[in-house]
Amino acid sequence: MAQANGKLILFGEHAVVYGYPAIAVGLTRGARARATRSPSAPGSELVLGDERVHAGDGSELGRALEALLGALGVGGLRLEITLELPPGAGLGVSAAIAVAAARAALEHEGQPLASERLEAAALAWERVFHGNPSGVDTAAALYGGCLRFVRGQAASALTLARPLRLGVALAGPPASTKQMVEALASERRREPARVGALLESIGQLTEEAQPLLERGELPAVGRLLDRNHELLTLLALSSEALDLACALAREAGALGAKLTGSGGGGCVLALLPERGEDVLEAWREAGLTCFESHVAAPERLA
Ligand code: PMV
Repeated sequence: MAQANGKLILFGEHAVVYGYPAIAVGLTRGARARATRSPSAPGSELVLGDERVHAGDGSELGRALEALLGALGVGGLRLEITLELPPGAGLGVSAAIAVAAARAALEHEGQPLASERLEAAALAWERVFHGNPSGVDTAAALYGGCLRFVRGQAASALTLARPLRLGVALAGPPASTKQMVEALASERRREPARVGALLESIGQLTEEAQPLLERGELPAVGRLLDRNHELLTLLALSSEALDLACALAREAGALGAKLTGSGGGGCVLALLPERGEDVLEAWREAGLTCFESHVAAPERLA
């Protein structure tokens, strides 16, 4: 059984698509995959809950499977996937499935789990769903820990002076990452100066956050999370439900809170104070599904 991490983007979602840095953490929970010989070999299939697809059957998932296995150069496999996080909520479940499936496939074939090969295959999978993925989800799924990511470059690991306690609430119905990324792209075409300046501000804020995280200055990190959320709101990427979940977290003592991932729906994250339970309690009282997430131990990066 192979596993891969889900993720939370702490800073820089969307701006990362345009070349600005992002900071993300890999989560201990994500997806698991088991590979066996496919009964329909040389064809391959993927089983995810009630859904079963075949590589290249024309469905989105079938095309993604074909892209993943094609990039790895393997076939004739049946991949059974188990999810450990809700899909479509900005928690990087799609990338986690891709990395877990790629690891399981290579293990089954007795081939080494070279990171670059896994990353390229997972990115081929992500392109089927997202069109223009930055690769931040894939890097977090593979490497865990806390990462600085710039599109087209190798991810680098951040060493945190203090561990982060992060709360996550499912605040809205899932939104499509592809649609949110495209909506921002068309907004940028309409208003290049305004949108460009906001993306630039997110980039600067991410640069400011990195040394604060490395020094463990968590109240200052929290203030930047709030500011990042404001900037995402100005880019029309938030929603009433996401704003409300952030406000509840702050009122209950969170050091900071923001939407995480593509926005429009999905999750918010909160940097929890010592009495983090208060934040989770406030969310639960408001009827939100929530949990404290744990950062996955980092793999060694080149
Ligand atoms: O997959 P999501 O919903 O967590 O969004 C990924 C982050 C974006 O910056 C919005 C897109 C990307 O490719 O980086």
